[in-house]
Amino acid sequence: MALERTFSIIKPDATRRNLTGAINAMLEEAGLRIIAQRRIRMTRQQAETFYEVHKERPFYGDLVTFMTSGPVVVQVLEGEDAVALNRRVMGATNPEEADEGTIRKTHAESLEANSAHGSDSAENAAIEIAQFFSDDQIVG
Ligand code: CMP
Repeated sequence: MALERTFSIIKPDATRRNLTGAINAMLEEAGLRIIAQRRIRMTRQQAETFYEVHKERPFYGDLVTFMTSGPVVVQVLEGEDAVALNRRVMGATNPEEADEGTIRKTHAESLEANSAHGSDSAENAAIEIAQFFSDDQIVG
């Protein structure tokens, strides 16, 4: 195991219900450290770029609309094995399949409005972090 960084988004369904603190508490309790964080309203361009890998999927258009529908909190998380650890804390993409006690099981509204995003690999984490943060904004 190694100290690692991952990228996280608290999505519009969660900020709308004032769940930023509740979700951050779950991340911190799991051993992840929030080393950068900013609340933003994503532009359409930012959301399209961020989810470009899903461009051909049928849910892409709705996903971009959802991600720009309200504020999000973009974050850099650090910890031992942070990519995998954050994915465990979030639970499965579909909240109906997520384990008890996970962020998505506890808070998500639907497959789309699933409260949180987390990078799926260290390589993608670096790309996603660089889209929203410069090195001097990350204080590890
Ligand atoms: P996220 O982990 O941010 O990655 C892609 C997002 O697309 C996913 O969470 C969901 O918010 C959304 N989504 C909507 N429909 C689907 C689907 N059928 N499969 C996967 N992701 C979906």
